[in-house]
This record gives sequence, structure tokens and C-alpha cells, in this order.
Amino acid sequence: MSEQIMSIRDAIRERRSIKQFNGQPVARQEFMAIIDDAVWAPNHGNREPWRLVVACEEQLPALHELLRDLAIPKWQELSSEALAKQMEKFTLAGAYAFVIVPEDVRQKERLEDYAAASIFIQNIQLLAWEKGIGSCWKTPAFLDNPKFREALKVQAGERVIAMLQLGHFDETPKGKERKTAAQIVTGFGE
Ligand SMILES: Cc1cc2nc3c(=O)[nH]c(=O)nc-3n(C[C@H](O)[C@H](O)[C@H](O)COP(=O)(O)O)c2cc1C
Repeated sequence: MSEQIMSIRDAIRERRSIKQFNGQPVARQEFMAIIDDAVWAPNHGNREPWRLVVACEEQLPALHELLRDLAIPKWQELSSEALAKQMEKFTLAGAYAFVIVPEDVRQKERLEDYAAASIFIQNIQLLAWEKGIGSCWKTPAFLDNPKFREALKVQAGERVIAMLQLGHFDETPKGKERKTAAQIVTGFGE
């Protein structure tokens, strides 16, 4: 898909989570421009409760090694072909962002911050989609692994809430049906 002006409605309805990328890189500059727009997400108190660790371009091979170590058990016992195949879910993405939120000890603030960061993430996904870049928010268990946190220099009181994979793709998956407004809305007083 090439870059196009897309209505918000179309972007929301047509965006799909892309889980199969084609290996084409995403340029750091393009990703940074997306982030510069995405930060206009609503957030309580303008706390801007997010920061990101991004890997693009020459940073990807070292990240792939970390992901291999954390996500592929006994990878040393695999043939290089089998390992390369298993690694495709990581290596074919064109860029990565790990989204980090503060974990406020106050529940209200913590929930607000997670909500705001989620909106920020969807902004990234929609803005990327408009540029023909697919993405998927993933929450693999290793996000909480101390080795992973250490590698990303995540601080105490912070949590990694998303592994966002971005990249180019050849096929758009079909969207799963959604409930209609009539199915989820109860009129006040009914
Ligand atoms: C908080 C959150 C966590 C998710 N975690 C994963 C994940 O770990 N792995 C995955 O394949 N997709 C994950 N997804 C993507 C969903 O599978 C996807 O959004 C859903 O299937 C709907 O498809 P769509 O985004 O194309 O509409 C996650 C999405 C959200 C919002």
C-alpha cells in the first residue's frame, strides 16, 4: 500500500494488525515522524506517561539476538535453517518500539496512564497505517523478564506494556467481525 490521505474513519476501520511482514525496513526518520504526531494523544494532567525504546535499521540485528535468547528455548540445538524459520516472526519486521509506562502507586493514575499510553499506541498504529506501514501490538511474556528489562534499561517503577512491531507487508488480513452499536449499547434508563 502506498502513502495516501486517509479519512480517520477509514484508518480506524481498515487498519489490521499485521503479523506477517515482508522484511522491508522502516526508516528511523519516518518512524520518528510518526511518534512526533502520535504524542498528541489525550492524557490526564499532560503527564505524557510513555517513553519508547526503538530499534530500526542497524540496531535490529542485536535486538534479534536478544529476542532469540528470550523467546526461543534451546535455540542452540536447532539447525541454522530451523532457527532462521522460527526467527522470521522477529526478523521480518522492519522496526520495533517497546512502549514503557510509569507504574504510579496510585491506582487511578496508573489506570489513566495505561489508558493514555494505549491511545498513544493506537495513534502510532493508525499513522503508520496511513503511510502503508503495518503494525502489531504484542505482549509476549518476556516483556516482564528481568533480563529483558535490564537490556532495555527499564527502571523500577516502569513497565513495558507493548512490543510494537512495524513493517511492510504483502497481504492484509481480513478483519474479524465486530459487534454493532445496537449490540453493545443500552439506552440510559432501559
Ligand atoms: C493490548 C493488546 C495486546 C495484544 N497482544 C498480542 C500478542 O501478544 N500477539 C498477537 O499476535 N497479537 C496481539 N494483539 C493484536 C490482536 O491480536 C489484534 O488487535 C486483534 O486480533 C484484532 O485484530 P485487528 O487489530 O487486525 O483488528 C494485541 C492487541 C492488543 C490491543
